[in-house]
Amino acid sequence: MSAKIIDGKAMAQQLRASIAKAVASLSQRHGLVPGLTVLLAGNNPASEVYVAAKSKAVSDAGMRAFDHRLPAEITQADMLAMISRLNADKNVHAILVQLPLPAQIDANAIFAAVDPAKDVDGFTPLNAGRLAMGMRGLVPCTPLACVRLAKSVHSSLAGMAALVVGRSNIVGKPLAQLLLAENATVTIAHSKTKDLPATCRRADLLFAAIGRAEMIRGDWIKPGATVIDVGINRVPGNGKTRLVGDVAFAEASEIAGAITPVPGGVGPMTIAYVLLNTLRAACVSAGLPEPQI
Ligand code: GUN
Repeated sequence: MSAKIIDGKAMAQQLRASIAKAVASLSQRHGLVPGLTVLLAGNNPASEVYVAAKSKAVSDAGMRAFDHRLPAEITQADMLAMISRLNADKNVHAILVQLPLPAQIDANAIFAAVDPAKDVDGFTPLNAGRLAMGMRGLVPCTPLACVRLAKSVHSSLAGMAALVVGRSNIVGKPLAQLLLAENATVTIAHSKTKDLPATCRRADLLFAAIGRAEMIRGDWIKPGATVIDVGINRVPGNGKTRLVGDVAFAEASEIAGAITPVPGGVGPMTIAYVLLNTLRAACVSAGLPEPQI
């Protein structure tokens, strides 16, 4: 059997086109141009690639991108002062603090300082709590992308056995909450899980967010399952490096019913949701209805 390849790149293009239309109408009718600020501290090469891709996508959608490059040795106090200025700036509707942060910075303290109304990543304690309680708020982009990709295969996830491998605050935990809200039966696996292969084999929906190259093998997958691969791992290959997911794609695509590729799956959809969350934050700040996209 050969799995359907879920084309995240094409889905993201469609989503970005709808967002660009909504942005154009917002600026024509209300003179409102959504603005995203990205804070990047230090020079992590992967972060530089993500930030450049996000800024280009923001400008392509007709929004304003304000990027701030901060020195790797920035202090916690200086970073908090910067966030407080951005919280007060009316042209900034969304603030994204790129992770990982330098070792001297306490990421939890930084996210706690971001205005929840501008929290495009949904990482503030208030938005995390709202998600857990089923209240409206800004929701993390990668989990939103994962659910949209799964729903491109299954119009309803109700009653399905969903396994999330990984329990991070930025993917695993919020993804589990979103899947619960979709009425899936949710399991979260992690590094202490006993017999991970057998746990995976029970899943109708398998979400891999571990950060280890090709850890999930083909024979761990339930035949016909839908596999959503969040991993982006750089490995040596053909003299250069190449990107692979957390799932061994070639093996898995022989067994799965549908699978996302890496690159071209979750990554482009995550960027599309950064745009959508920026647009939502701008609409809410102006008391306008949220776009139905
Ligand atoms: N670094 C890796 N993934 C993410 C993400 O989703 N948001 C932010 N801010 N940083 C990241």
